[in-house]
Amino acid sequence: KNIVILISGRGSNMEAIVRAGIPGARIVAVIANRPDAKGLDIARGFGIEAMALDHKTFAGREAFDAALATEIDRFAPDLVVLAGYMRILTDDFVRHFAGRMLNIHPSLLPCFTGLHTHRRAIEAGVKVAGTTVHFVTPELDSGPIVIQAVVPVLAGDDEDSLAARVLLQEHRIYPQAVRWFVEDRLRLDAAGRVELLDAP
Ligand code: GRF
Repeated sequence: KNIVILISGRGSNMEAIVRAGIPGARIVAVIANRPDAKGLDIARGFGIEAMALDHKTFAGREAFDAALATEIDRFAPDLVVLAGYMRILTDDFVRHFAGRMLNIHPSLLPCFTGLHTHRRAIEAGVKVAGTTVHFVTPELDSGPIVIQAVVPVLAGDDEDSLAARVLLQEHRIYPQAVRWFVEDRLRLDAAGRVELLDAP
């Protein structure tokens, strides 16, 4: 299966997916919306085609997402993986990749959609936090859930310590979800619900 990964920065989830060495998974491109995204160099280090499409050089969100979709389509991906990709997506873009686009979010959805999840979790006083891989649908961070992991929120945690604990789990569950997809075991059914088939 051909996979295109979209990033905006560090790229550690992208790296975890690449390093997982999933049989049958070909990371055909890594695309960032920021030219300075660190993850681009990491991808190139693995010999993966990596490029930036700078959203600031486009007139607006529609124009940028249309250009991005065209760029992604050149690689004929079976799966598009959003890995720390920090842009709101247009409905057209989401529809174009419906059922074949995953995202990871650093909270136990449906709690704490959007930004600053760890800070908000600590402020809310929750005792567990975590991360969620989900299919992407037009509403932000609200698509059908594929897999989640839970971590404790410890006394004395700050945003950084909690983020680091959650990130370790992100690096575990995102490759797992991609593996399921590549194995043809993960899909959305006609009603838009997640279907996970047993291993053959
Ligand atoms: C991750 O915590 C991801 O869940 C969030 O942004 C962060 C990206 O990290 N959306 P990286 O670029 O994968 O290292």
